[in-house]
Amino acid sequence: MVGLNSKKSIHIACQIVLILGFGASVCFGSFSLFLRREEVHRLLGLNSELYYVRDGKVNTYALGFEVVVPNEISELRFTWESLIHQKLQYSMAVLVNKTEALGTPHLDIPRKGLVPEEQEVFQVSLPCTGKQSEEVDVRIQINVTTESQLNVTFLTLKRRKICLK
Ligand SMILES: *[C@@H]1O[C@H](CO)[C@@H](O)[C@H](O)[C@H]1NC(C)=O
Ligand SMILES: *[C@@H]1O[C@H](CO)[C@@H](O)[C@H](O)[C@H]1NC(C)=O
Repeated sequence: MVGLNSKKSIHIACQIVLILGFGASVCFGSFSLFLRREEVHRLLGLNSELYYVRDGKVNTYALGFEVVVPNEISELRFTWESLIHQKLQYSMAVLVNKTEALGTPHLDIPRKGLVPEEQEVFQVSLPCTGKQSEEVDVRIQINVTTESQLNVTFLTLKRRKICLK
């Protein structure tokens, strides 16, 4: 029954959204994931926000771009928020090949949970050990799905972490 009710309310939400003219993409799995202006400035020296997902639309161009993270930066900050009144579940993993140069990456949020309904920042720490100089490929995987599993977004963010001895 719960499943039926929630499906019905999603359907109603979508119809309302469509009537208001926002388009279909707002109906399912809609969320935003981006880098705030200060984060883009810190990493890339540019003065703008960088969206990976905006209102549910994936920016494949931005995802294809590998961000080089200098030795002195060990925390990456991402901002996200759910844009629908339906629970969006995420699961996340930070993948690196085992190396002396980089310690275990750390996420400051659980690996699984719900995408926040208000803008929140989460942080991925990439601690260099100082034991070895290396450029380490880092892949941050983020999967977002609706409760009904109707819509799943798979994202892989590419980073190249520079670690110096
Ligand atoms: C998934 O979401 C996209 C856009 O957000 C939408 O166009 C598509 O119809 C949805 N698919 C399903 C199976 O709900
Ligand atoms: C995301 O989904 C893909 C495809 O199902 C899966 O291979 C990957 O392990 C998932 N990653 C996470 C962090 O859940």
